[in-house]
Amino acid sequence: MNILLNKRLINFLKQYPGIFRVVKATYIESYLGLKKIENLPKKIRFKLKGDQDIVEKLLLDYPMILSGMVTENHVRVVLRNLKKVLDEGVEGDIVELGCNVGTTSLFIQKLLKHYGSGKVFHIYDSFEGLPEVKAQDKINLKSRGKPRSKNYQKGSCKTKKEELINNFRKAKLKLPTIHTGWFGKIPDEEYPKKIAFAFFDGDFYSSIMDSFDKVYPKMVPNSRITIHDYQWKFLPGVEEACIDFLKDKPEEGTVINNDRIGIMIKK
Ligand SMILES: C[S@@+](CC[C@H](N)C(=O)[O-])C[C@H]1O[C@@H](n2cnc3c(N)ncnc32)[C@H](O)[C@@H]1O
Repeated sequence: MNILLNKRLINFLKQYPGIFRVVKATYIESYLGLKKIENLPKKIRFKLKGDQDIVEKLLLDYPMILSGMVTENHVRVVLRNLKKVLDEGVEGDIVELGCNVGTTSLFIQKLLKHYGSGKVFHIYDSFEGLPEVKAQDKINLKSRGKPRSKNYQKGSCKTKKEELINNFRKAKLKLPTIHTGWFGKIPDEEYPKKIAFAFFDGDFYSSIMDSFDKVYPKMVPNSRITIHDYQWKFLPGVEEACIDFLKDKPEEGTVINNDRIGIMIKK
């Protein structure tokens, strides 16, 4: 089979994500030398999708970095909300607080590229891992009797900035503007003047509070914040921070949960 035919076949199959996944998993990956998508779902959903939009294409098209921190569906929910903001023409730039090795950052940048968006993408991380655990991060120890996962301690998720940079290089994507430091200590001027979309992935109470402190005042009406690990029993500080920060704001009680991603729309 020549290269042109391979491309045509792949493009044809990509119109039907369900079939594409099955065929790719069982046969054509080795035969056609397809780009490896490592994060195949355990149960392959065999269904044809009529709503095959750019988000689904990106999720199919793109190798997923297996950081173990976000699932394919988490990325899907984040991208769908970013897409909404882009489609609505909401003013302002894009931020991600807690970028780590860039699993989500890569997808965000890819969607911005698809849109030819002029929005600047800023990403923030200490690259030192998580900060101190606070009492609010242990709340379910008391209320539900479930132990907080040992995976989440001071210094967990530590990574190297170079790894993030390398992932962008490998993906041939423009590097976002990287800001290194603790969210709360990074000066206000390093956050964009107006923010259209934010992704918070700081895991702990203080990190989410600091994210809100820095980002919320710069959110424009109809902008969105998506918050990872919202209402997840292992990181209770995330929801606690949302409750505490929003208690005197018009958005109090409006955060909705879609598969562990909290979604807040600025009024
Ligand atoms: C769960 S990881 C983020 C995963 C990332 N979104 C991805 O897709 O790969 C959490 C990151 O937040 C960073 N972080 C947590 N709290 C922080 C804080 N207060 N200031 C700066 N960085 C923080 C950690 O260093 C870590 O890299």
